[in-house]
Amino acid sequence: MKNFLDTANFNEIREAASTGLLDGVTTNPSLVAKENRPFKDIIKDICGIVKGDVSAEVTATDVEGMLSEGRELAKISDNVIVKVPLIKDGLIAVQRFSAEGIRCNVTLCFSPTQALLAAKAGAYIISPFIGRLDDISQTGMELISQIITIYRNYNFDTQVLVASIRNPVHVVESAMLGADIATMPYGVWTQLIKHPLTDIGLTRFLEDWKKVQAK
Ligand code: E4P
Repeated sequence: MKNFLDTANFNEIREAASTGLLDGVTTNPSLVAKENRPFKDIIKDICGIVKGDVSAEVTATDVEGMLSEGRELAKISDNVIVKVPLIKDGLIAVQRFSAEGIRCNVTLCFSPTQALLAAKAGAYIISPFIGRLDDISQTGMELISQIITIYRNYNFDTQVLVASIRNPVHVVESAMLGADIATMPYGVWTQLIKHPLTDIGLTRFLEDWKKVQAK
């Protein structure tokens, strides 16, 4: 499973990229708004250090508006994936982008029927938001399972990107289900590495080793 960061913050991305384990980045208008910098500059800077997929979202809600914004975003770098909302005009735009060779991440997916239509439209990535479903007392991970089954049944190439991840358990469950990508906030990314028993164990090993050196 590929691990993406869900952020537009350059410092977080640089830190994660320095491990060699960052596969890509997803952004959205809310994340970009926190940065107080021009949108295209942010995407350009991210693409300068991340060679994997970098999702940049259109804000138009009509087909022609999405096409014109998306074409501009795709020009920034070869690894820009145009993020399009899962609405009727979005699905029409995805088919047009697909015919032009522009790859799309279809976002704000909350149901298996939406995911089925996105795949039929030619989405490169589908982004089901599991945390926001959990927030309203639905089990987000069930949606991931349904989408993976549907895509396998019909051999769709569309990659399943688990979005709106809130904790490392979501990452584990995504990997157990065979999701293609998990995108997560920087805080969750750092939690993937850490375990208190690792820290305690390492401290003890090093203390014992010091005693050997002292002899
Ligand atoms: C995905 O691409 C979205 O940017 C993101 O995962 C939304 O997460 P949130 O529900 O934490 O805002």
